[in-house]
Amino acid sequence: MAQLIGGLATSHIPAIGGAIHKGLQNEPYWKPFFDGFPPIHQWLGKVKPDVVVVFYNDHGLNFFLDKMPTFAVGAAATYSNADEGWGIPTLPPIPGCPDLSWHLIRELIAKEFDIVTCQEMLVDHACTLPFKLFWPEHAVAPVQIVPISINTVQFPLPTAKRVYKLGKAVGEAIRSWNSNLRVAVMATGGLSHQLDGERAGFINKQFDLQFLDSMETNPEWATQFTDLELVEKAGTQGVELLMWLAMRAALTVAGSGVRKVHSNYHIPISNTATGVLALETV
Ligand code: DHB
Ligand code: FE
Repeated sequence: MAQLIGGLATSHIPAIGGAIHKGLQNEPYWKPFFDGFPPIHQWLGKVKPDVVVVFYNDHGLNFFLDKMPTFAVGAAATYSNADEGWGIPTLPPIPGCPDLSWHLIRELIAKEFDIVTCQEMLVDHACTLPFKLFWPEHAVAPVQIVPISINTVQFPLPTAKRVYKLGKAVGEAIRSWNSNLRVAVMATGGLSHQLDGERAGFINKQFDLQFLDSMETNPEWATQFTDLELVEKAGTQGVELLMWLAMRAALTVAGSGVRKVHSNYHIPISNTATGVLALETV
């Protein structure tokens, strides 16, 4: 059976891509953010995942407000990037893993998740930028991906409880995949931020730190909040932290725990509180 080796999470602010492109990683503004990654690069060099299941939110590239699936699973052989152009130049297509995609799709539908299956799927900065952050030496990260898009754009959003259940079901499905490959789960987005409206620039450090702590010690903590409570606490776009919840839920399985490999929290990049986290299953 496939091995679920652990989870990764990072913010996906497009401006980070611009900084990578211009080589600004050591500038005073950027260094405290990029300094969060080298311990995770070392760990990835050791554990070497073959496939990454990515929980991310599409920002209007692949799904727009007229048709917005709550959960969509990619089942393509490759995923092309066609970003909105704020940050990193368009990246080469990322290879998919259709065998794991279809296994996940079958298992999720059997567990009553009404997902959209996507045999063609464009991916934006939320799916591409994290691979530049976690595998900076590679033009294309040495992994195959299965993207899972969770709506955090058009209300009503899925509840935190539902997202947690989805993550758990994805974790169980990965573990029942008949394969020798090593799989990691990844979350992209957050932490607290609000890009528009009267509260533009809103950041909530206390909530973010509590949420980060819950990732280690109390993974279901954030499921107590409704979508509007999450907006109040984390900002309109801070609800992207739902991806982190799905990633963490995927790592919960009876009798096993997680070890924190590394985390970092830095305010602000752009208008956003940034976080990065790596957890290893034990
Ligand atoms: C920013 C953050 C996001 O999550 C995003 O998708 C776009 C922009 C920002 O902080 O600039
Ligand atoms: Fe975003």
